[in-house]
Amino acid sequence: MKSPLKIVLVGMPGSGKSTFGRQIAKQLNFTFIDLDQVIEKETGKKIREIFTLEGEGKFREYETFFLEKTLASEDGLVLSTGGGTPCFNDNMEVINQKGVSVYLDVSLEEINKRLLRDQTGKRPMFAGLDEGEITLKLKNLILQREFYYLKSKIILSGEDISTDHLLSALMGFFK
Ligand code: S3P
Repeated sequence: MKSPLKIVLVGMPGSGKSTFGRQIAKQLNFTFIDLDQVIEKETGKKIREIFTLEGEGKFREYETFFLEKTLASEDGLVLSTGGGTPCFNDNMEVINQKGVSVYLDVSLEEINKRLLRDQTGKRPMFAGLDEGEITLKLKNLILQREFYYLKSKIILSGEDISTDHLLSALMGFFK
């Protein structure tokens, strides 16, 4: 029988949710799901296209809809959310009701470095911005979003972002 556990990773773009999510899913033999990929598959559109053709508001509607659907249907799950997912439409409450939320708390400096490195146009939130603007936008986003991220049941910061640390935090959580 599959474990009913649903681990939901939250954090800024560039915090490594997908990479870390794949590692932890492999270790636990859970299914890994990336919410952005679900949205792209189900709508038949790229995230970038949704932002440019339908606007961010519509993207947030899709995001909430597919978050709820995924959390309702999958067990033994590691779900990587988008950076903004917990911050709209009571999504953080839904996440905490259905699963164990884990915030990957990566420093602003590190995220900034990563985003500047892989600005390939796949992140519409930062499309068309120069380096200074990306840094400023990041600072503003973190200020708005930490309020939601910090509602997570488990917070892994910096060096502690490892599968070992998450596994021991999960054990403590269910003791
Ligand atoms: C967003 C982050 C993206 C994606 C969308 C919006 C955000 O996901 O959901 O472009 O609002 O920060 P990642 O966090 O995986 O980059």
